[in-house]
Amino acid sequence: MTSTTEPQEDIVPRSTEPPFDTAEIDRLLTTTRSVRRRLDLSRPVALDVVMECLQTAVHAPSASNTQLWRWLVVTDEGLRHELARLYRAGGQDYLRANAENPGDESSQRVYRSAQHLVDVLDQVPVLVVPCIAAEVDQRNAPALYGSVFPALWSFMLALRARGLGSTYTTFHLAHAKEAAALLDIPPGITQVGLVPVAYTVGTDFGPARRRPATEVTYLDRWGAPVPPAATG
Ligand SMILES: Cc1cc2nc3c(=O)[nH]c(=O)nc-3n(C[C@H](O)[C@H](O)[C@H](O)COP(=O)(O)O)c2cc1C
Repeated sequence: MTSTTEPQEDIVPRSTEPPFDTAEIDRLLTTTRSVRRRLDLSRPVALDVVMECLQTAVHAPSASNTQLWRWLVVTDEGLRHELARLYRAGGQDYLRANAENPGDESSQRVYRSAQHLVDVLDQVPVLVVPCIAAEVDQRNAPALYGSVFPALWSFMLALRARGLGSTYTTFHLAHAKEAAALLDIPPGITQVGLVPVAYTVGTDFGPARRRPATEVTYLDRWGAPVPPAATG
């Protein structure tokens, strides 16, 4: 007998239509890029829109639903200036190494773009420092970082959907202690990065160039390719 309080999955007609506009959702997922050069530094960003995006982001999954993410939204000009200084200091080694060994055209493009962000970070209207309300060690790192990154990515997608851009960055973490002192972040809280947020100059970003999924996916046994018919 079926209880009236249980979901009656068997009598719900099966829809052949996907529940979302998949083309539009896929466009959002594939064109949310690391925006550095096209951040509009002259357009203010209301705190409300950042909070709206964070409110969406906190629906992400987390280990045991602990929701240990914390978000520090930095708008104060003096604090942004100091964070940008720490970011620049932290990025120096990476940028110097890249200047000495420029690599292929694609790596050079990323390097030039990263350098640009270093140069303008203090002018970006909002800097978000995502944190974990826990100390991270080798044992718990996968669960803790893995509990924040889905929400962080959701935040970046929600921003993009509203005409804003962002980049997940880690340069300033080399100076995380100084950043903690600057922002009154107490002991026991782990910073996981710094996300500059601004409106973008235009919204016509192209899809990210990636190796196709078929090249990095196996079926049943490691190394066995997925047959072409299944790859769309
Ligand atoms: C773990 C991680 C650390 C990153 N750190 C930085 C950083 O410190 N500075 C920066 O400009 N970009 C940083 N990025 C952004 C990557 O450079 C970027 O995602 C990559 O080049 C691909 O470009 P796309 O996101 O536009 O597709 C980081 C990305 C990840 C996932």
